Amino acid sequence: MKFTPIKDVKPGKVLAKPIYGYEGRVLLQDNVVLKQSYIDKIEALGYNGIYVKDPVTRDIKIKEVVPEEIKQASINIVKKSFQAIERHMSLSGEQIQNIKKGVNDLLREIMSDRSLVVDMVDLKRFDDYTFHHSVNVTILSIITGISMGLTHGDLFRLGLGALLHDVGKTRVPKKILNKPGKLNDEEFEIIKKHSQEGYDLLKEKEDIPPTSSTIALFHHEKVNGTGYPHGKKGEETHLFSQIVSVADVYDALISDRPYRKGFTPSEAMEYLLGCSGESFDREVVKHFFRKVAPYPTGTEVLLSDGRLAVVARNYEGLPFRPALRVFRDSHGREMEPYEIELCDPQHLSITFEPVDHKQKNDKLLQR
Ligand SMILES: [Fe+2]
Repeated sequence: MKFTPIKDVKPGKVLAKPIYGYEGRVLLQDNVVLKQSYIDKIEALGYNGIYVKDPVTRDIKIKEVVPEEIKQASINIVKKSFQAIERHMSLSGEQIQNIKKGVNDLLREIMSDRSLVVDMVDLKRFDDYTFHHSVNVTILSIITGISMGLTHGDLFRLGLGALLHDVGKTRVPKKILNKPGKLNDEEFEIIKKHSQEGYDLLKEKEDIPPTSSTIALFHHEKVNGTGYPHGKKGEETHLFSQIVSVADVYDALISDRPYRKGFTPSEAMEYLLGCSGESFDREVVKHFFRKVAPYPTGTEVLLSDGRLAVVARNYEGLPFRPALRVFRDSHGREMEPYEIELCDPQHLSITFEPVDHKQKNDKLLQR
């Protein structure tokens, strides 16, 4: 299967992964032949691309770190919990148990194959952003924690804090949270309060370990002390909040938002590397890189010699050296597909448009 940007999907293509609509309901099953009306509907839901069946990639399999049904169930748990907080200003014991069950379900799936790499383009919709984002941040944080050798108990506490890291956003007016444009200074100050608000909400719950609630407080701090709410330096925060900080920014960057287009995974990786040691802990970024593929399997890439290929496999610890299936020569001519391993010594690399970081406004990245 091949990941195809939605603008390039043509009627007649066969869907390779189901499409989910509101509340996580399956809107289109895999193997459906796409009509233009289906493609329009998928685009209207905010999907930036989909997986389709393709002769070049017929035998290429993509392993999900967490099955989509489990992920959707976790998204629904977060959604219900956040909505309950908006109504009652607090989390009930029953809701905390549901959230813990959601973390355990995610953890069990991720632990079932510790060598897995996050190797899929996340198919995102516009709606449910905060909830979907919370679950993605949890998966990315747990997988980074595994690479760092955390114990099962620590992975659970990390996952719980990651799932609830933005719980303070339930106290930010929706008008500001969903503003389709640049925030002014006053609005940004209000957004920034969500770290402290989230911590205040969680710290009084006996069922939530302090290391988990601390993640809500510190996830926007930076290792050089220029973050918020307290401008604490790396060593003054907690390893878990530094892991969540990297996962949070990465997932926010690769998401399309009403006020900007998302980065590609490789662009987001470049950003993380560029800020490593200043905004983010170097060690955390290094482990994140071991587990998250900048060129997910099934995506098209351009080689430095002009050949066009699809990523066939990724390897843990070799983020920029996947196996590729070449299908066009350097003159753009179609050819019988063949595989090359980028980890073999050769003067060849994947090329991509560099990110102009000056164009990226911090206030847009950090919401
Ligand atoms: Fe946040």
